[in-house]
Amino acid sequence: MQHPLKIAVLISGNGSNLQAIIDYQQQHPDVYQIGLVISNKADAFGLQRAQKAGIPTRVINHQDYPDRVSFDRAMQHEIDAQGVQLVVLAGFMRILSAEFTEHYLGRMLNIHPSLLPKYPGLNTHQQAIDNGDAEHGLSVHFVTAELDGGPLILQARVTISPEDDAASLQHKVHQQEHLAYPLVVRWFAEDKLQLKNGQTWFEGQPLNKPLQLEERST
Ligand code: GAR
Repeated sequence: MQHPLKIAVLISGNGSNLQAIIDYQQQHPDVYQIGLVISNKADAFGLQRAQKAGIPTRVINHQDYPDRVSFDRAMQHEIDAQGVQLVVLAGFMRILSAEFTEHYLGRMLNIHPSLLPKYPGLNTHQQAIDNGDAEHGLSVHFVTAELDGGPLILQARVTISPEDDAASLQHKVHQQEHLAYPLVVRWFAEDKLQLKNGQTWFEGQPLNKPLQLEERST
């Protein structure tokens, strides 16, 4: 693995996970380097975060393309032109084509605000509250063609208290996301993490269940 690992981060909005990944890079410049940030929305606040950190940005607006495949090909062209080794989806809210997910199979991560396989898709925090769940959380996984369905790597849990609403729960989950995501990118950079035959491998062993953030700090 080339060091530091060159990554691209794809966003659609606020970019607080991108910020966590930037902050980690600034503290550990030898682990990974963000070579490119792509947003499908020109007004995504995450673009300003990247520019402030001196990271190259591109806006590729999905509305400028006739279909999903041509939009994805435009992103692929930019990503591959930069020699990127890992694609990191951080609040990127577009469904990806099978062609794109196949091209980056084993080289693309996503973070999702639920304990997958519970609650793929949107409004995860409200769904957890409405179902009376005692806990909620996040999942980091390899991306496959199945939406929020690829092999799990790491989860972190938060307790749902009676006072929680969707906003407070989202805040709790975000705090854990900001710890979890840079750590997983680091593991990939350190060659500890692979996707083999549809299964996540960590430190040379297949994972039967996702790692738990609470049990790991490095
Ligand atoms: C994060 O909570 C992330 O888990 C979620 O979008 C949010 C983006 O926040 N992603 C998904 O829902 C993907 N299915 P951010 O822009 O502040 O990083």
